[in-house]
Amino acid sequence: MNELKKVVIFGATSAIAEHAARDLIDRGASLFCVGRDQGKLEVIVTDLKIRNSTSQRIEGYVADLMDTEGHSQILKVAEETLGGIDAALVCYGTLPDQKRCESSFSMARDAIDVNAISVISLLTELANKFESQKRGVIAVVSSVAGDRGRQSNYVYGAAKGMVSIFMQGLRNRLAKHGVSVVTIKPGFVDTPMTEGFDKSSILWTKPEKISKGLVNAMESGKSCVYLPGFWRWIMLLIRCIPEGLFKRLSL
Ligand SMILES: NC(=O)c1ccc[n+]([C@@H]2O[C@H](COP(=O)([O-])OP(=O)(O)OC[C@H]3O[C@@H](n4cnc5c(N)ncnc54)[C@H](OP(=O)(O)O)[C@@H]3O)[C@@H](O)[C@H]2O)c1
Repeated sequence: MNELKKVVIFGATSAIAEHAARDLIDRGASLFCVGRDQGKLEVIVTDLKIRNSTSQRIEGYVADLMDTEGHSQILKVAEETLGGIDAALVCYGTLPDQKRCESSFSMARDAIDVNAISVISLLTELANKFESQKRGVIAVVSSVAGDRGRQSNYVYGAAKGMVSIFMQGLRNRLAKHGVSVVTIKPGFVDTPMTEGFDKSSILWTKPEKISKGLVNAMESGKSCVYLPGFWRWIMLLIRCIPEGLFKRLSL
């Protein structure tokens, strides 16, 4: 089992991350919570502090994670604050309007920058740090959308797919150094990111259900986890559809 006593959360104001933070606290973790929106972050950190015991440390740090130049400094401050880092959870992003991305390359690039490029910058810093300390857990919330390009969200899907493939390589590199690289692939989750979606289908899940599976995967050092688990079979089926048929479907 991996130790999760000192954890950095990138994107701590996300609904999934907020629930994961609560679960981590219940398991005795101290947290360094990085978020972009100072007001939201303060509310979340205050709530987390009420939930923890006096021996656990909960700190907030405001940063726009698109600023990749600042990533190494965030890690340095996190390490000083927590007295080391056992694990990092990367859980932020945006869901772009696919139609608008089709008519604007700059929108598509912004979506790829935040969902993939900035994450890869963080992964580069985290990988080198954990490789040198010969232990640690790197967990990233990717998405089932990265498993196959679909007309309804292939810009977001391409960014998530890039992160998932990058993590496969990282896992292959870091396994021999005692580092767990955990890819989390949620399906449809009821969070602010999906506000306005029709959530009547049984495929929708609440963030508190996702967070439990996420923290379990970090603890046990799983490689790639679909949440809820039935998405593994849905995506297997979707990946198996021959391209000749797939291109005629409206997915
Ligand atoms: N909801 C789903 O159905 C679903 C499915 C699969 C995967 N995911 C993934 O799950 C993760 C968490 O999303 P969520 O569903 O919990 O949605 P959410 O509550 O809307 O969280 C998204 C978070 O990303 C943060 N963020 C965006 N750009 C940022 C930046 N440049 N710097 C720092 N933070 C930034 C937002 O910060 P602000 O609060 O400042 O806006 C927000 O806290 C994302 O990676 C998402 O792609 C979600």
